[in-house]
Amino acid sequence: MTKRTSQLPGFYKVTVTERRTLVSEATGVDAAAIARSLDAGGLDADTADKFVENVIGTYGLPYGVTLNVRVNGHDHVVPMVVEEPSVVAAASNAAKMVRAGGGFTAEVDAPIMISQVQLVDVADAPAAERAILAAKDEILAMADRATPGLLARGGGARGLEVRTLGTPEDRMIVVHILVDCRDAMGANLINTVAEAVADRLARLANGKVGLRILSNLCDKRCVRVRCRVPAEVLATDEMDGQAVIDGIVNASRFAELDPYRAATHNKGIMNGIDAVVIATGNDWRAVEAGAHAYAARSGRYSPLSIWRRDGDSLVGSIELPLALGTVGGTLRVHPSARLSLAMMGVTEASELAAIAAAVGLASNLAAVRALATDGIQRGHMALHARSVALAAGASGAEVERIAAIIVEARDITVEAARRALDVLRTERRENATGAADDQRPGIGGA
Ligand code: MEV
Repeated sequence: MTKRTSQLPGFYKVTVTERRTLVSEATGVDAAAIARSLDAGGLDADTADKFVENVIGTYGLPYGVTLNVRVNGHDHVVPMVVEEPSVVAAASNAAKMVRAGGGFTAEVDAPIMISQVQLVDVADAPAAERAILAAKDEILAMADRATPGLLARGGGARGLEVRTLGTPEDRMIVVHILVDCRDAMGANLINTVAEAVADRLARLANGKVGLRILSNLCDKRCVRVRCRVPAEVLATDEMDGQAVIDGIVNASRFAELDPYRAATHNKGIMNGIDAVVIATGNDWRAVEAGAHAYAARSGRYSPLSIWRRDGDSLVGSIELPLALGTVGGTLRVHPSARLSLAMMGVTEASELAAIAAAVGLASNLAAVRALATDGIQRGHMALHARSVALAAGASGAEVERIAAIIVEARDITVEAARRALDVLRTERRENATGAADDQRPGIGGA
């Protein structure tokens, strides 16, 4: 049996094929299965044609892995699908710092989703509310009958709430049916429940049925993750760890006090979360909608994470709703999504949510540390330089070489990369010598 590890030193220096072998050894997932599930994005046009309409092809994105992630004492190699340079390397780096303080600790709520039934033309909202609450058991039983598979898996309707909206002139109430979705994301189940109980609710309310749909503000399905980072691992060449802690706490306060900054702070969190959500075939629009609605729950848009000093350590915490599934939906049909779960060693939705939130907190730590120290551009541009080198026509070992040259020259443009490539190729022709350099610039170094 494989001893699962997420620490793979030097991973970024080796080839894609060698990385697949290392991940296979670290996770126990067969290397051939990794290749099969990822080559050509894991999805051919015929399969894609069954997903959505009017398909004429598929669209590839890079699939990387974040290393060093330890959540509740377990190591996970975490897949991330993202187009932005430095996100994967930054999360790996930050996860390594968190590891030095014992890793992430996470707690996850029961997977309760909210099914909303809007009732309109309700003349007497208080009477409607009383009638619906009195019929609670009947309504929950109806919901369960509509989702027998979920019931068999141990889930089902768990509660009912009624809210009056607006003023009496609006004549509108909404009923929430709370449903435990187990390991499913739950959208289909929840919509089924809403449609199954709506007519009965309208009769009880003496009103008419309006919308019947889930709420993406699934605030009963939250994840909370914490970490502690010792000062010494936060230090940079120019700043000691204590000063970095102060800088990060100031960055956190900035986001807490200013919604303009909070939006960007949260974007840095979602860099990590979305990448894991996409890699596991989950609905990132639902996750985004829930995260930002939750961030605004107090009436003021706020950061989803905060950072504080505790003695000589930095302590970070994040809380957000995460509706993620490990069964059903895209997972049934997308080989790469199934591979992602196998690689992480995850079967339960709650574990996946804990890991995704931990990677979100790691991404946030990397961003605020960079902002509080060197500034974001140094690392960002160093990695961005590789895409620029590719765009200029560099290939193989040339990519890192050209990227290093344009970073050194502080001219990260396609034109500069083309010029550097011309020089490099001319030199190579003249000297007939290679120019391999596997040292990646920037903030990588997983
Ligand atoms: C860029 O993708 C994300 C950051 O802007 C996040 C932040 O500012 O905290 C660097």
